Amino acid sequence: MTDETAFLWGAASASYQVEGGWQADGKGLCNWDVYTNVYRVTEPVSGKQETGNVAINAYDRAQYLQDIALMQSLGLNAYRFSISWARLLPDGVGRINEAGIAHYKLFVDDLIAAGIEPVVTLFHWDMPQALEERGGWLNRDSIGWFRNYARVVREALGDKVSKFITFNEPFINLFLIEPTVENIKAGIGSPFAITEAQYARQAVAMHHWLLASAETIGDYRAAGYRGTIGLALPLMPMIPETPGKAEDIAAASIGDAIINRWCLDAMFKGRYPDEIITEFGRRNPDFVVTEADLAILAANRPDFLGVNFYAPAYVRHDATVPFGFRWFDTNPDPEPAAFNGPVRPDYLKILLERIRDDYGNPTVYITENGAGFGETDEVMERGMIMDPRRADYITRHVDAVLAARANGANVQGYMVWSLFDNFEWLQGYGRRFGIVHVDFETQKRTTKLSFEIYREIIEKNV
Ligand code: BGC
Repeated sequence: MTDETAFLWGAASASYQVEGGWQADGKGLCNWDVYTNVYRVTEPVSGKQETGNVAINAYDRAQYLQDIALMQSLGLNAYRFSISWARLLPDGVGRINEAGIAHYKLFVDDLIAAGIEPVVTLFHWDMPQALEERGGWLNRDSIGWFRNYARVVREALGDKVSKFITFNEPFINLFLIEPTVENIKAGIGSPFAITEAQYARQAVAMHHWLLASAETIGDYRAAGYRGTIGLALPLMPMIPETPGKAEDIAAASIGDAIINRWCLDAMFKGRYPDEIITEFGRRNPDFVVTEADLAILAANRPDFLGVNFYAPAYVRHDATVPFGFRWFDTNPDPEPAAFNGPVRPDYLKILLERIRDDYGNPTVYITENGAGFGETDEVMERGMIMDPRRADYITRHVDAVLAARANGANVQGYMVWSLFDNFEWLQGYGRRFGIVHVDFETQKRTTKLSFEIYREIIEKNV
């Protein structure tokens, strides 16, 4: 049995990024199978056409048992992974694929037998293609599709899994990745050139995610589920790039409303920030938020908040980008940015203390934190891969978490992204985040310095 009161020391992953087995045992296609095999969406970004067809072979039990042994040697007591919806329901709704259910039941049993608590994400971006073709998350029926899928998971795993996460990173998937994929498919030269119209359209999808999450939380409780259930948000403190400059301050404020406060307010206050209602409402007549919708949010607050933190955002006002907030490529810090932004662990502490103060100090798990820096940062020395920057990044972010905890923030766990190098959505295999190196040709795993450092951190703190 796993100890459910212990601080969680974990690692996180997502089905499409690690599993492979894209057509194994009756799995249906998901949108990412189509994006990568048909539209080759990694090609414009990474220059290589890469897919998650094999990924790091984590669907294969012979492989994942070795991976679990590595987790044990690291000292993990939690492992966060997501379920592939299309493995369980090949058409998204309707027919259940028993082989998919059996796979996840066994995987969960194998983790628990190793003393590792499974933390299960229901949706980490891989939508069954059959539902994508029915309008995906823009179709309000998606709320019902998701609730049905979540019920299937609960009935299969609810007695063994005590932490579920409904959705991973609403903002990043809906406002960054999906519009970028759309632009790549349309052959738009600069794939990250997302328009305000795309933002306004995606606001409807965001509303559906938040409702689907709240309704699912309600369903789990009504069914007598005894564990806890929450959401994982990508939270980014917004720093005006030029301190004191009014335009940057205003841009940072709208950025904060869209990226941070929208979901936080929905989850913990049962409402949307005023800017969200007005700014999206006037750009998209389909974005309608009723009192009844808000009542659903208010009635079904999550048990915990998952915080995915990589970096803060330096916001510069720029009238040519949606809502005037430019944040993607700004970093005035002298220290080089990691793949996902400026390295500023101090802002993780600030963020956790803000959640403590502004949102009633909910239980928080850091559900992702990690870094990639580039190939040159990983050098093989005496059988170990030296990645000093990632090791330093993890050390300093764990310190920030523990400092916030000492100041009363209710943080109950830390999960590194990621245990293994894996498929990175738009960049394929070139962008490594693992504390374990994976040779993608042979599937050989080799630990990095950051693995050893994280092992020592866990050993010191349990
Ligand atoms: C996502 C992961 C992703 C990671 C690194 C997060 O936005 O949840 O799926 O691989 O960041 O970019």
